[in-house]
Amino acid sequence: MVTTQPQLKENLTQWEYLALNSELNIADGHARQALSPGQQKIVNELPVLWAESEQRPVQQIESEAHQAYFTLLGQHGYPAEPGRVLSCYSSSVSMEILARSLSASVDRVALVHPTFDNIADLLRGNGLDLVPVEEDALHGADLSAELLSSVGCVFVTTPNNPTGRVLAEERLRRLAEQCAEHGTVLALDTSFRGFDAAAHYDHYAVLQEAGCRWVVIEDTGKLWPTLDLKAGLLVFSEDIGLPVEKIYSDILLGVSPLILALIREFSRDAADGGLADLHAFILHNRSVVRRALAGVEGVSFPDPESRSSVERVAFAGRTGTEVWEELQRHHVFALPCRQFHWAEPSDGDHMVRIALSRSTEPLEKSVQVLRTVLETR
Ligand SMILES: Cc1ncc(COP(=O)(O)O)c(C=O)c1O
Repeated sequence: MVTTQPQLKENLTQWEYLALNSELNIADGHARQALSPGQQKIVNELPVLWAESEQRPVQQIESEAHQAYFTLLGQHGYPAEPGRVLSCYSSSVSMEILARSLSASVDRVALVHPTFDNIADLLRGNGLDLVPVEEDALHGADLSAELLSSVGCVFVTTPNNPTGRVLAEERLRRLAEQCAEHGTVLALDTSFRGFDAAAHYDHYAVLQEAGCRWVVIEDTGKLWPTLDLKAGLLVFSEDIGLPVEKIYSDILLGVSPLILALIREFSRDAADGGLADLHAFILHNRSVVRRALAGVEGVSFPDPESRSSVERVAFAGRTGTEVWEELQRHHVFALPCRQFHWAEPSDGDHMVRIALSRSTEPLEKSVQVLRTVLETR
């Protein structure tokens, strides 16, 4: 049993550990809602998938899983040739491989601000200096030539976590063209793309046409309640010029074919209507949260357009950490937002993030407690 020790909370994941054993865990962004009927059917047939995974060559199952996942999300231009999509145990493993690969030839990385802090931590942990790029600047206009020539990589999380902001097709195209002009690697973390159809345009076609060196980290782990049976997918341009494959082989041989078969089946179920149902479910949970907190003085929702599976709640007065402490007295665990602001933590002081990939009943119960806490002065 993990206890709530304040000295452990050095990053967002440490806050998330504290929530793992609570029924009212609205902290981490992993999907924890009940399985849909279509998903339950797949789980009921696990022995069949197990037998298939024992008997068929892993490369076949892997390429079927990739095809099903990329096709579901409109990524028809992904490189399907063997070896171009590296399956990893999780997107953090993909991130570590990318960060280590970059450190061979790059000193500085421009990184979107705010974003999930383990991206900043893994880059810094591999000796890279970071330059923050505020979301408004990134989405607004061209990046300055001065910035682009001072970094070896521009890293963008889209849809972003926690804001849900999606890089529009035309912005991605310009950014990729600018990166091509400056010889800068463009890296994307698209872990949350499944939730937002605005992120389903073909990123690979745009990146290829622009001609930059690019890397994309995809993640099957946020979308479906698969008990953390998931994969991070590390995809890169042919001319990447980084030792990605070597470092991948330093770390792993591959992902279990059973997990790959599960991803294939969940992707096919999603294509068959499950994704639309999931979008409706998240939309409903978001409205439950907004309704439950409506009218509380000083409370606002900073991301009105977000379709992502997380929702930020901002408030006046108390800090997110203080609200977290009040909530955990009632066994409710949200996520204070300070550490998303990896360059300027105080920017996130007056917010918590709530996970929407939860069954509606415990979510509603948790948010009722949040309302009581926020109303109590
Ligand atoms: C944008 C983003 N990328 C990567 C990760 C890491 O995912 P995992 O814990 O599955 O490695 C997270 C985790 O929440 C995330 O939000």
